[in-house]
Amino acid sequence: MALTNRGRGGGGNRGGRSFGRGGRGGGRGGGGNFGGRGGGVQKRGGGRGGGRGGGGGGGKGFRGGKVGRGGSKGGSKVIIEPHRHEGIFVARGKDDLLVTKNLISGESVYGEKRISVEGQDGVKVEYRVWNPFRSKLAAGILSGVEDIFIAPGKKVLYLGAASGTTVSHVADIVGSEGIVYAVEFSHRSGRDLINVAKKRTNVIPIIEDARYPQKYRMLVGMVDVIFADVAQPDQARIIALNAHHYLKNNAHIVISIKANCIDSTAEAEAVFANEVSKLKKEHIKPIEQITLEPYERDHALVTGKYIRSQ
Ligand SMILES: C[S@@+](CC[C@H](N)C(=O)[O-])C[C@H]1O[C@@H](n2cnc3c(N)ncnc32)[C@H](O)[C@@H]1O
Repeated sequence: MALTNRGRGGGGNRGGRSFGRGGRGGGRGGGGNFGGRGGGVQKRGGGRGGGRGGGGGGGKGFRGGKVGRGGSKGGSKVIIEPHRHEGIFVARGKDDLLVTKNLISGESVYGEKRISVEGQDGVKVEYRVWNPFRSKLAAGILSGVEDIFIAPGKKVLYLGAASGTTVSHVADIVGSEGIVYAVEFSHRSGRDLINVAKKRTNVIPIIEDARYPQKYRMLVGMVDVIFADVAQPDQARIIALNAHHYLKNNAHIVISIKANCIDSTAEAEAVFANEVSKLKKEHIKPIEQITLEPYERDHALVTGKYIRSQ
């Protein structure tokens, strides 16, 4: 199987690869890809560095440190554009920011900034800033992942929900027609997750160990996407078990892989390759792999398609 870098315009190599036939040209630049429709601005992240809220490298990318907590400044100078991923937006202003449309207007979930913009009809719409230093999914989007398969109306099984930070944005994306089954085994984080779900009624919090998917069979239906961010050495097995139970045939998985949670002695690339080969054995055909630099060190986001055995 050929491994190819793929990209659209823009120089640079984003450290990504697509699996399968034929690549489509060169790399796509590093982090900070605000791929709005109709010619998004592509911004390259710098090298490593930039912790939470730190600088995102070169260019004018997301600047977490500048994003205040809570409160809305109003948005007279901010223009909202759809991102190329449906249900996600870019707020273009002094800094370009990744945002989702707030399902529960007037409320922040984890202290994130809100931006209110008046539409052409005079109705105000509120967006929540999505910080790639706090969400591997946001980091993957800004690093240029081709498809996250999470879109309005989709049913998502989210493994490793923690306090619901990223879950809340996924809930915004899928909207009221979609659903997010959010699995988290830590009771402490689970309390926050339950609070998120009290307002966002499209989130079903499940405080269980994702290693035992049969435990939540009464709560979960068949889903379109599994997103996994459990950071466990046996995560490929966890994902496969959940896919066999709940993922529709030809549906998709999106996984965050933190190399040193799996093997702290091996090179990150070797760990990623090994995880991908484990997924293949579980009927998950890899589609794409990208690194999450500069937002996360030695992390990859891998997407794949689940082909249920007949
Ligand atoms: C890296 S954090 C997830 C962060 C979260 N995805 C976000 O973006 O806000 C990993 C989470 O997975 C949870 N986790 C790890 N193993 C798990 C398991 N077997 N079942 C359920 N949750 C698990 C941990 O308790 C932790 O909260």
